[in-house]
Amino acid sequence: MKEVSFTYRGNEKKVLNHISADFEDGKVCAIVGESGSGKTTLLSLIAGLTSSSSGVIAYQGKDIKHMNKDRYRSNKIGVIFQSYNLLLADTAAENVMLSIQLGGNKVKGKSQLAYVLLAKVGIDKEKADRKVLKLSGGEQQRVAIARSLSYNPILIIADEPTGKLDEKNEKGIMDIVRNLAHIEGKCVILVTHSASVTEYADVVMEIRNGSLSRR
Ligand SMILES: Nc1ncnc2c1ncn2[C@@H]1O[C@H](COP(=O)(O)OP(=O)(O)O)[C@@H](O)[C@H]1O
Ligand SMILES: [Mg+2]
Repeated sequence: MKEVSFTYRGNEKKVLNHISADFEDGKVCAIVGESGSGKTTLLSLIAGLTSSSSGVIAYQGKDIKHMNKDRYRSNKIGVIFQSYNLLLADTAAENVMLSIQLGGNKVKGKSQLAYVLLAKVGIDKEKADRKVLKLSGGEQQRVAIARSLSYNPILIIADEPTGKLDEKNEKGIMDIVRNLAHIEGKCVILVTHSASVTEYADVVMEIRNGSLSRR
């Protein structure tokens, strides 16, 4: 990100003010900041869900303004939202399969890939075939992670991925997240309130008064 600023329409105050930062492959970057400081706004800019008012956001050197937004969103980045955005009445496997299809890949019958991705985050076959509604919060978060991996993105962004979880599940999720960066070389950017989550991160940045600085 280079000199990125952002103001919501009809609002005078800049939420983000000339922010510059690099996010590297193979690392987990945690972004902290008070409630309302602009963390979610920053993630939606990176995800291309919102356009910056000024400045440049580049993905592998390419300005995302000049990229096909739908392809960028559905192929290049994995997004894990605060509210998991899972289809609760569908099974875990169906949720992952849907995402594989949205990424432009055909799924015939039951996708093995969906089960492989779910196994990777600790969801076995029996749970994969259960309706998401009948999984615990920690399990639902794992499904959301598996779904974000469906098209093997290099960049994974997560808004409070452990926000609703207890300590044990938080550790489980953060171990998965760290492995994605350290073993698979992905670039993980996550937003968190939790001081313990920042201990799993390689880089910690803080948003304050519209500025982003390394801690
Ligand atoms: N859609 C919106 N329209 C106007 N203002 C918004 C909108 N979304 C968030 N804001 C404001 O922008 C600021 C940053 O919000 P947000 O990025 O959600 O903060 P955080 O995720 O750090 O809690 C807050 O003051 C919030 O009220
Ligand atoms: Mg937020």
